[in-house]
Amino acid sequence: SDSTTAVASDVSSRTPPYPKLLRRLHEVRRLLPTRSLTLAEKILFSHLDNPEESLLEGTNNGTDIRGRATLKLKPDRVAMQDASAQMALLQFMTCNLPSTAVPASIHCDHMIVGEKGADTDLPNSIAGNKEVYDFLESAAKKYGIEFWPPGAGIIHQAVLENYAAPGLMMLGTDSHTPNAGGLGAIAIGVGGADAVDALVDAPWELKAPKVRGVRLEGKLSGWASPKDVILHLAGKLTVRGGTGYIVEYHGPGVESLSCTGMATICNMGAEIGATTSIFQFTPSAHVPYLHSTHRGSIAEQAAAIAASPGPHNLLVADSGAEYDDEVVINLSELEPHINGPFTPDLSTPLSVFKAAVSANHWPETFGAGLIGSCTNSSYADMTRCESLVRQASAAGLKPKADFFITPGSEQIRATVDRDGTMQTFEQAGGMVLANACGPCIGQWSRTDGVSKGEDNAIFTSYNRNFPGRNDGNRKTMNFLASPELVTAMSYSGRTDFNPVTDSLPLPDGKGVFHFDPPQGTDLPSAGFAAGNPLFQPTPPTPDDSIEIAIDPASDRLAVLEPFEPFPQGELTGMRVLVKVKGQCTTDTISAAGPWLKYKGHLPNISENTLIGAISADTEAVNTVTDVDGSTHTIPELATLWKEAGQPWIVVAEHNYGEGSAREHAALQPRYLGARIVLAKSFARIHETNLKKQGVVPLTFADEADYERLSGCDEVATEGLYDVLRNGGAGEVNLVVKKSKSAEEFSVPVKFNLSKDQCGFILAGSALNLLSQRSKG
Ligand code: F3S
Repeated sequence: SDSTTAVASDVSSRTPPYPKLLRRLHEVRRLLPTRSLTLAEKILFSHLDNPEESLLEGTNNGTDIRGRATLKLKPDRVAMQDASAQMALLQFMTCNLPSTAVPASIHCDHMIVGEKGADTDLPNSIAGNKEVYDFLESAAKKYGIEFWPPGAGIIHQAVLENYAAPGLMMLGTDSHTPNAGGLGAIAIGVGGADAVDALVDAPWELKAPKVRGVRLEGKLSGWASPKDVILHLAGKLTVRGGTGYIVEYHGPGVESLSCTGMATICNMGAEIGATTSIFQFTPSAHVPYLHSTHRGSIAEQAAAIAASPGPHNLLVADSGAEYDDEVVINLSELEPHINGPFTPDLSTPLSVFKAAVSANHWPETFGAGLIGSCTNSSYADMTRCESLVRQASAAGLKPKADFFITPGSEQIRATVDRDGTMQTFEQAGGMVLANACGPCIGQWSRTDGVSKGEDNAIFTSYNRNFPGRNDGNRKTMNFLASPELVTAMSYSGRTDFNPVTDSLPLPDGKGVFHFDPPQGTDLPSAGFAAGNPLFQPTPPTPDDSIEIAIDPASDRLAVLEPFEPFPQGELTGMRVLVKVKGQCTTDTISAAGPWLKYKGHLPNISENTLIGAISADTEAVNTVTDVDGSTHTIPELATLWKEAGQPWIVVAEHNYGEGSAREHAALQPRYLGARIVLAKSFARIHETNLKKQGVVPLTFADEADYERLSGCDEVATEGLYDVLRNGGAGEVNLVVKKSKSAEEFSVPVKFNLSKDQCGFILAGSALNLLSQRSKG
């Protein structure tokens, strides 16, 4: 039932409120008459609830906004993926409103297991997740949220095709939400509790980010692709390099990129910790993309705004706009990169990867090449890969590694199916998985005989490569590369194969085959196919008569009980549950894979809390000792302490909670009794999530104090209660009594809490505060 004439339903609810944004920008100009604005600032500030309060109060008359002002923002839209939507909706429900205050969408993509191919995997996953999908669909219909059913596609691809637009500001309950920056939107990944702010029309707070410019020069050619821009940048800036920044791409090189290529680059801005990333409205890329996705009217409005002269142009940075920092990348000189294993900032140029494989004793062969996902499944990506597969097929070659293709959306799948690309992949032995996250989020039943704990390698065009991310095996080394490189390398099955310089033996043993550089097409000449009509979203009309489907006996969904408020005084008698050694991502705190099943059931999913953490005391994963010396898993000890009424804290190193927007990583510790996380530093989204759930994030004033703490040490706060009644940034003390000696000492720690955040913590959670307010 493919059709090339699909028309996006209801373009009006998908058009940014341009007149309102332009009026707001006018007001911002009045308040900041002499300041040049970057594009990111123009869009953000035009979404301020009260520009005067956000820009002038608490700053030096608007001269030091970045890194200082607290922006209270009113986003235009919210997008949620199925795993995080459950908790967002359970939280929204407690506010008792008839509909969402802004347009919103739900995308069923994270819970579909990749195993035997889309035709089998999709029905199996729908059957396995029925009660969750029923819950999400019933809540969507009740509150007027567009519901994209399982099979319709991955959130970020669906958002790019339907909702992203120049000048839009949206929140998404997924850390790769910045993908929409490829179409000129400010799109920020948040936890469900933040999404609830927007859904109930409460202003959403963001510390005004700094702005890092990335100036692109030259032009991509040959094997180099948009993916290599961000793989290279991740190597340069590291996983912490974007923290507190919006990355704004500009310069003449932008003109040579496609809209979907820009989206790939913005998508992986999450890997450097950036608040978000954005490209300015680029007519050569954005107008054709908007037209081909049936949004010509948005293209026209955006083009008219971008062409308007003067300071009220919402879609182009001011000529004198200053960046806090700038990186220059010459696209003409950029070579393909391979990042990993285990961290996205370990970046190796292709030309020296062979040497790196041998120097690091990485496996010389790899078992699977996976292309697609929300990051890299555009028409350009697919057709460029197709050109390589065609060359190899013509030479009689088949991939040596298993080859998987994950289309990002039904629209892409149907289009490449219509245009023969899919058949090329399948004839070569590729397996097309469902339009869903699948192996990118651990939803992968590997059938190639690699056992858990076995060293092995895979190549993917995805964005994440933490240990255990794809197949639950922490020894699987996931190397990230462009889909083109993954495809070509799959024909060798060797990690030290360089398709730019090396050849492959022909099947008859006589002669060799050499790949020509990939070639593709940005947009399908026959337009996008609409695909299966069953994969269209429900309309955005609330229906009060709908009952929300939650079975009280369910082990996957549980109505939320409010957390208890902060005590009227200092926190005393807490103990250190675990002193985490090294990296602690949101995957470490709340593992994905099979646990995704329990996202809507807080007590059940809490059984995975911190199971990936290495204890600095025992030097072992998920192994801690109680005060009596008995050994436990981390969730076991947390549960024992919860039952005994023993509050606890986590001690950790740098960038605690890096990786994703997963609010369960804050909710679960809170549910089990955490009151404080004390770290050397935090990842931004996670730090906010902790505050929203009533956990106090503190950082060491002197990092050396990390060494002085151990598991089971008793901790009390000194001065924190006063801080919570006023907010701000500064220092307080923790008083530590060692559990194994009589030693007692003070540790100075830093806090950074807005007044609203203090309100959340005192009320017990942001939600407690919101429902207190909505009850008047
Ligand atoms: Fe899904 Fe992986 Fe993207 S989990 S949303 S495909 S990062």
